[in-house]
Amino acid sequence: METQKLIPLIIFLFFLPCSVSFVPIDNYLINCGSHSNASLFNRVFMGDSTNQGSIFLSSDDSISLINKNPSPNFPTLYHTARVFTSNGRYRFHMKENGTHLVRFHFFPFKAQSFDMKSAKFSVLVNGILIIKEFRPISDHVLIKEFILKIESNMVEILFRPVNSGFGFVNAVEVFNAPVDFVIDYGTRLVGPSGVEEYKHISSKVLETIHRINVGGMKITPFNDTLWRTWIPDEDYLVFKDAAKHAISTHTPNFQKGGATPEIAPENVYMTAQQMNRDNSSLASRFNITWNFPVARDGFPHLIRLHFCDIVSPALNLLYFDVYINGYIAYKDLDLSALTIHTLASPIYVDFVANSDDSGVIQLSVGPSDLSSSIRINAILNGAEIMKMINNVDDSTVHRRKHLEVLFGSIVGGIVVLFFVATVFLLAIKCRKKKPKERTVESVGWTPLNVFGGSSLSRTSEPGSYGYLGMKIPFAEIQSATNNFDRNLIIGSGGFGMVYKGVLRDNVKVAVKRGGTPGSRQGLPEFHTEITVLSKIRHRHLVSLVGFCEENSEMILVYEYVEKGPLKKHLYGSSRQLPLSWKQRLEICIGAARGLHYLHTGFAQGIIHRDIKSTNILLDEDYVAKVADFGLSRSGPCINETHVSTGVKGSFGYLDPEYYRRQQLTDKSDVYSFGVVLFEVLCGRPAVDPQLTREQVNLAEWAIEWLQKGMLEHIVDPHLVGDIKPRSLKKFGEMAEKCLAEYGVDRPSMGDVLWNLEYALQLQESEQQRGVHDDYGSASEEVNETTRTIHESSTSRRIEKNYDNEGSDISTSQVFSQLMNKEGR
Ligand SMILES: *[C@@H]1O[C@H](CO)[C@@H](O)[C@H](O)[C@H]1NC(C)=O
Ligand SMILES: *[C@@H]1O[C@H](CO)[C@@H](O)[C@H](O)[C@H]1NC(C)=O
Ligand SMILES: *[C@@H]1O[C@H](CO)[C@@H](O)[C@H](O)[C@H]1NC(C)=O
Ligand SMILES: *[C@@H]1O[C@H](CO)[C@@H](O)[C@H](O)[C@H]1NC(C)=O
Ligand SMILES: *[C@@H]1O[C@H](CO)[C@@H](O)[C@H](O)[C@H]1NC(C)=O
Repeated sequence: METQKLIPLIIFLFFLPCSVSFVPIDNYLINCGSHSNASLFNRVFMGDSTNQGSIFLSSDDSISLINKNPSPNFPTLYHTARVFTSNGRYRFHMKENGTHLVRFHFFPFKAQSFDMKSAKFSVLVNGILIIKEFRPISDHVLIKEFILKIESNMVEILFRPVNSGFGFVNAVEVFNAPVDFVIDYGTRLVGPSGVEEYKHISSKVLETIHRINVGGMKITPFNDTLWRTWIPDEDYLVFKDAAKHAISTHTPNFQKGGATPEIAPENVYMTAQQMNRDNSSLASRFNITWNFPVARDGFPHLIRLHFCDIVSPALNLLYFDVYINGYIAYKDLDLSALTIHTLASPIYVDFVANSDDSGVIQLSVGPSDLSSSIRINAILNGAEIMKMINNVDDSTVHRRKHLEVLFGSIVGGIVVLFFVATVFLLAIKCRKKKPKERTVESVGWTPLNVFGGSSLSRTSEPGSYGYLGMKIPFAEIQSATNNFDRNLIIGSGGFGMVYKGVLRDNVKVAVKRGGTPGSRQGLPEFHTEITVLSKIRHRHLVSLVGFCEENSEMILVYEYVEKGPLKKHLYGSSRQLPLSWKQRLEICIGAARGLHYLHTGFAQGIIHRDIKSTNILLDEDYVAKVADFGLSRSGPCINETHVSTGVKGSFGYLDPEYYRRQQLTDKSDVYSFGVVLFEVLCGRPAVDPQLTREQVNLAEWAIEWLQKGMLEHIVDPHLVGDIKPRSLKKFGEMAEKCLAEYGVDRPSMGDVLWNLEYALQLQESEQQRGVHDDYGSASEEVNETTRTIHESSTSRRIEKNYDNEGSDISTSQVFSQLMNKEGR
């Protein structure tokens, strides 16, 4: 068994260079109306007619036409065309099921009695009407591209003249797309009622309308991994002065689970448009907007946006909002959260929106409310707009039968003629690697497989929960945990025991074994769990690696987080080296980010229900990851019975309002988080029964001291001298607001996040002041207004540090932003 698993790995490593460029298994490139081959951008298009007749073509009345006066240097591919005076078909044998690309090249010229500009025809692919009553009136080459799923051994392309007219085509391409080119997960339906999940995108027939290399140059098929053409965005910008090119000279860090070079080539991710903040005549916050013309037909469109953070000097500095047709499409998009510890890592997100009467699809990116005043920006690297056309022709059924009969007679011939044997052999080997590679992954369960955006879960297979690909055999878990060795227990909770384990490829995991073996109780919850958890990928949330439900076991396997619970780093006998105030702030900010994402990242929002310092884990770099949102429920509309039967949460952290009214909202998490904030500040447990009655409950005790204005008396002794007064003040105010009696009075997680970042800025800016103090002795006793102005100028200094491009934001602009933020 061990060796069986090893072999695919070896194959994978051996053929690694294959993945450098994609070689489709099905790859038909046809030079129509010609005996000879023609090449274009290094690809050979095969003539569709030979002396023995045509291999692919079945048409009684088709005519080969030659352009007698081609323009000089015009590609030979367009010197010929095939004209159909009645129905004519190309048929191609397919080896691979799944998403394929089909392209038609049209270049109308005059020859014999035909003026191709007067042609009118429809085109069907396997009975699906994809081009309806088309008149190719153009002086240029028109290329129409379709992306569709083929689940058949044969592709039949039918040219059907309209009204005793004729049809024609100069070249045809049919080839399979890489696996996961269009996946059914993570697509966001955008409209007036908010963002919802859009299902089954991969079964749609898509027609490419726009393909844009934002902020960059035209990319020709020669330089594209799937022989596409990308054009610059300038002509679509609504207000050119709002945008500024960003160009990276480094190749992007393609990561497993993110976008691949086939999704879009390097060049797309190496350029972007960003907010043009140099122009002082613009407000400090504005959108960059593009209008892309589309037909006014109300059809849904797939909008694939490509992102790669090539503008930030470090992770977690860039937050922005994405709008489509004026509706919010992605709020607080944090590219760092969707990638793992790496800047400039390409991702893409799929959206669906309808065209409307305006005749355009409008895209905007603009700063999020969360972007700190020192880092206002928004970017876009690439955009593709594809129309969904699913007009199934009524003759489909009929045609299918016809096809099956035909199949037998044609397949023999095709197999013999299957060309470029060597290239294909290699291709097949590469292909073989792919499913194997997937096996390796399904054994390895690298958490990196899957994260953020639409590019996430690219390797998971949709199944009954959508994620059958995450199943791990029980035997594997047994061996990973040394058959549930008691010495490997790293925790226990409501759900059961948690074991440390190591999967085959040395990936460390935390294995949560739930329920009593043999009992199926809680199975529906377990399934809900997996469905929810498998959708969540975020840098600050512990990700689910897989699950197992063999032998009535209910086991969840999570990524292992090296440095364990935050609690261990704050107090107690097993306490590690004390954390600095800056580290603590960064940890709180990370956890707040994770929670904010849980609350807002989904249509319904998810409530954690059990925030505490044991559920915030630290990785080897002290990056906070929120864990155990296991038994979370989607909120806020929770079934009453669920709440009363499952009052969850831990003593000392429980929202008093939830306790009283049994009503759970995301503000209950905010309350618990407030308790954690005081734990972090004071270095003591939320509840300590050893202490005197006034001191037992941390929340009450801390609030008391805070209200006396003596918070500094109860801070963790390790922090004395480290923590700057204004940072402490901000932090204390924030924690207090989180603990407000009523949920409505508590801030949202987004506000908490912003304020914590502000507390960090205050901590850091004061440190800088220590280094070069040109502010004189600004006293802490100054009145409110002076202080805010003072803060704004320190913020500017930070900006100078972060942002080497410099910034023209004036003090008054920063001032107003800070005021706005404060008022939130
Ligand atoms: C056209 O190309 C195919 C495959 O690339 C090759 O097998 C065939 O011999 C070529 N035909 C001519 C006429 O060059
Ligand atoms: C593709 O799917 C069809 C229909 O489900 C099936 O008949 C055919 O064998 C499949 N082909 C391959 C190569 O898997
Ligand atoms: C391909 O890209 C290179 C480098 O960007 C460029 O110099 C070249 O002109 C491109 N070739 C084509 C055919 O677009
Ligand atoms: C700034 O924007 C204005 C329009 O608002 C434009 O006229 C001006 O040329 C821009 N200046 C720069 C430096 O881009
Ligand atoms: C950006 O555009 C959206 C949608 O049109 C709008 O709601 C938002 O207010 C704009 N943001 C700014 C800063 O102008």
